[in-house]
Amino acid sequence: MLGRALLSASRSERVRHLVETAPISRNVVARFVAGNKPDDAVKASQKLIHSDLKVTVDHLGEDTVERAQADAVRDAYLDLLARLSDAGLTGSAEVSVKMSAVGQALSGDGEKIALEHARAICTAATQAGTTVTLDMEEHTSTDSTLGILAELRKDFPSTGAVLQSYLYRTEADCRDLAVAGSRVRLCKGAYNEPESVAYQDAAAVDRSYVRCLKVLMNGSGYPMVATHDPRLIEIAGVLAAQNRREPGSYEYQMLYGVRPDEQRRLARAGETVRVYVPYGEQWYGYLMRRLAERPANIAFFVRALLSKK
Ligand code: FDA
Repeated sequence: MLGRALLSASRSERVRHLVETAPISRNVVARFVAGNKPDDAVKASQKLIHSDLKVTVDHLGEDTVERAQADAVRDAYLDLLARLSDAGLTGSAEVSVKMSAVGQALSGDGEKIALEHARAICTAATQAGTTVTLDMEEHTSTDSTLGILAELRKDFPSTGAVLQSYLYRTEADCRDLAVAGSRVRLCKGAYNEPESVAYQDAAAVDRSYVRCLKVLMNGSGYPMVATHDPRLIEIAGVLAAQNRREPGSYEYQMLYGVRPDEQRRLARAGETVRVYVPYGEQWYGYLMRRLAERPANIAFFVRALLSKK
């Protein structure tokens, strides 16, 4: 309830201004975001990779409204991939890209521009010896993003997709994508979606997650289990064993700064664990989704605000 209210409030320009200019925000941001610059992301990745974790790096930004901004995001990814490659990290570091950040929502040719930009990023990633995963955003963009994915996979078959278990449609999407070579990150979903398209009840989202995971684990693709939920992590392990999947034929994924001990515990147990590492100036939307997910995160934010006074 609180989370939904926060996601709605985060759309207000007044709330955005308040959060962005609060002196404390930077400290709170630092818990969830690697830094402003690509080198901050490279350093954070290096540290995680040294602890036997893998990473997927996200250049923060979404809802691009100008062509020049979409071009700049593409260039930021090309620069990031070059830096990851120079640092020798691309064996364990890939990138995550939001289609809205590379122009998907621009009027007219938006989808075409996003595809072109994503193609340029996939080309650079392939040259650097790594992969790209397309993040998933609001349900209104799901068809478009899956369409872009299908185009990209013709030339870059290892391009990953994200599916969100809160959407009614997702079990069917899992069936479509549980095919050889297909990398699918399954998450619960982080946006404020209406009842017409998404489960509203947390338990129903979790049940859907398990149904989707069964499809992915039973299929011939590469499931990426993106959750911090201990019950779902345990169920993923059971399903992997039931489907005779060896560690390395699927992976766990968690967000930077969230349950780092659990990330290391799974890695020590021989599992592949990838951490989603966001960096950049455009942290507002990302931070608000993290706060909305968990009352404890909101409490952390409020405590930080109060302790500054
Ligand atoms: P949830 O938030 O429901 O938490 C369940 C339980 O996990 C809690 O009850 C608690 O036990 C434990 N837990 C959670 N946070 C904890 C913490 N900080 N400390 C201790 N325990 C904690 N979404 C999207 O819409 N599109 C996308 O492309 C992506 N991409 C993505 C990548 C990766 C790698 C991850 C991990 C997540 C995403 N998400 C996403 C976000 C996702 O949809 C979801 O909002 C968050 O992961 C939160 O959901 P959880 O599954 O973690 O469970």
